[in-house]
Amino acid sequence: MNQKIEAIRAEAAVAFERAQTAKELYDLKVQYLGKTGSFSGIMKEMGKLSPTERPVFGKLVNEVKEALEQAYATRETTLKAVEMTAKLQAESLDLTLPAPVEPLGSRHPISLVIEEISSILARLGYAVRTGPLIEKDSFNFEALNVPKDHPARDMQDTFYIDEHHVLRTHTSPIQVHALFNEKPPFRIIGVGPVFRCDSDVSHSPNFHQIEGFCLERKVSMADLKGTITFFVREFFGRELKTRFRPSFFPFTEPSAEVDCQCPICSGKGCRMCKDSGWVEIGGCGLTHPNVLKFAGIPYPDWQAFAFGFGIERMGIIKYGIDDIRLFNENDVRFLRQFSL
Ligand code: PHE
Repeated sequence: MNQKIEAIRAEAAVAFERAQTAKELYDLKVQYLGKTGSFSGIMKEMGKLSPTERPVFGKLVNEVKEALEQAYATRETTLKAVEMTAKLQAESLDLTLPAPVEPLGSRHPISLVIEEISSILARLGYAVRTGPLIEKDSFNFEALNVPKDHPARDMQDTFYIDEHHVLRTHTSPIQVHALFNEKPPFRIIGVGPVFRCDSDVSHSPNFHQIEGFCLERKVSMADLKGTITFFVREFFGRELKTRFRPSFFPFTEPSAEVDCQCPICSGKGCRMCKDSGWVEIGGCGLTHPNVLKFAGIPYPDWQAFAFGFGIERMGIIKYGIDDIRLFNENDVRFLRQFSL
């Protein structure tokens, strides 16, 4: 019996020392000292001993048990220290690492185009004006030589607020505000949202326009063409030909539609220009005398020209975007492409 006890002590002591984790150590403790462990097994055999042997054996058992518990505690302290050191090392902070980069927002492509067009025209002396989004019917139409019941009103599908007010259908009424409020000569850019009852892949009910208006003692079609040609070169960043096609707007006479060589394919023909090599960018013309007269500006003492572009359209052509609705979806994957 005594030998058996000594054998367990030796075996357990070695096993405790070999344990590599606190969990492993604890399992060993259960195995040797637990209720159903080797030690308890031996105790059950105590009955076989004679009354004189029993106290001696009991003393030995207590000694060994204490010794093993002591060995367990010592090993446990060591293992816990090792585990703590490992944990601290794994969780350590490296304060020299660079901080995580906060994602920066980007300007909306509409804002970028507005800013770019404004800054190009600013170099020719144009100042930015915005004007109200809700216009008097008379400013949106009559002042621009579109009398009531004139068929030209059908060109623009109008949202009416009430009998006398509309959501402006174009930025041209900003010209009228300027004619009433600014001292000639002047050059202004009218810019901002406009509204039309129209919606498909290339039309949105809420889009943006930008237009230039130049009032001088004398202006000509040549001045207008020179201005637009300069603008196209600066905006697309290279020499692209412009083309003027006769057209009609009630507030300009003569009027023209402006095309430029397709900036995507440089005029060779592609999907953007439907293989024509040209893309339409806007309308223009010499201001109709009736527009000046409405605001009390004497013609021909004063003369003006105007030109207008769709901002979304300019973005679409410049960046090769194929769906106007992308501008309003606010999908970061789309917007992020315009960050500087
Ligand atoms: N206002 C016109 C439109 O919305 C565009 C235009 C502006 C035409 C200036 C001529 C001059 O279609």
